[in-house]
Amino acid sequence: MEIKKLMMVGSGFMGSGIAQVSATAGYKVHMFDITEESVGKAKAGIEKALSGSVKKGKLSEEQFNAIMGRITTTTNLADAKDYDLVIEAIVENLNIKVDVFKKLDEICPPETIFASNTSSIPISQIATALKRPDKFIGMHFFSPVPVMKLVEIIKGLKTSEETCALIKDLTQKIGKVGVIVKDGPGFLVNRVNSALIAEANKCLLEGVASIEDIDEAIRYGMNMPMGPFELGDFVGLDVALAVSENMYENTKNPMFAPFITLNKLVISGDLGRKTGKGWYDYTSGQKKIRDDVNI
Ligand SMILES: NC(=O)c1ccc[n+]([C@@H]2O[C@H](COP(=O)([O-])OP(=O)(O)OC[C@H]3O[C@@H](n4cnc5c(N)ncnc54)[C@H](O)[C@@H]3O)[C@@H](O)[C@H]2O)c1
Repeated sequence: MEIKKLMMVGSGFMGSGIAQVSATAGYKVHMFDITEESVGKAKAGIEKALSGSVKKGKLSEEQFNAIMGRITTTTNLADAKDYDLVIEAIVENLNIKVDVFKKLDEICPPETIFASNTSSIPISQIATALKRPDKFIGMHFFSPVPVMKLVEIIKGLKTSEETCALIKDLTQKIGKVGVIVKDGPGFLVNRVNSALIAEANKCLLEGVASIEDIDEAIRYGMNMPMGPFELGDFVGLDVALAVSENMYENTKNPMFAPFITLNKLVISGDLGRKTGKGWYDYTSGQKKIRDDVNI
């Protein structure tokens, strides 16, 4: 079997990025989301990003048109029947993901491979609900997808070697570095990063340093592109909270328990850059320290 056509289920921040890199690499990508507005926004976002590359001379007009021509959109999940691979990047919620994969299990022929971009939900747990656990795998991309090179390829308990080899090959063909990781809480990168984020939150609560000083210290002292709080705002605090909850649920390690401040921000609808406010305030178009919350 060879993967030629892929369908992206969920065309938000991650889904649109995965569609962009896949189409750039020459794959036909069909993007699904629940509303016309969402898929339209995703396609316009890709167009804007690629236009930027044309302006910088990194991409020709011809290449731009060819890439955009490979991306189609739909709000009809049943279209998945024609695709070799379905990559899911919808909300980080086990029940919603299982519900969508169960529908896909009925829609798609038995040879279709299913991949989830979940950040923290055990792959084996989603696979249990399906008739094809051998063809179910994790493809954990990092944001922003066009920039970040790594894809964690998560082998569930029953993922076959064949599925793993096909996905490893695809990952390479779309210009990414695939690292095979066994299923487990937080997989690899989020597990290690969760420990860093937990310590940063403890430092904040103990008054060791302020949010902006912790971010600056980690950026310059550890040579990371973003500090833990900036990263949370970039990723989305709802996603960060879901990772923390799943890490805690699956390890019972108190270190990973969600921090109350993160909880309060999410409950208040302050989800980071996407809502304009999170650990920082972005409403002026620039990152500013918040003076309207009691952190
Ligand atoms: N944000 C990150 O940095 C990051 C990194 C790695 C993995 N992930 C994972 O990727 C997934 C998506 O995250 P995101 O940041 O792109 O979120 P997002 O909120 O930007 O996008 C989610 C999309 O899913 C759609 N959706 C919601 N319910 C749906 C349903 N029932 N069927 C189909 N589509 C539905 C929404 O309309 C939305 O467009 C999550 O599982 C998340 O944990 C996120």
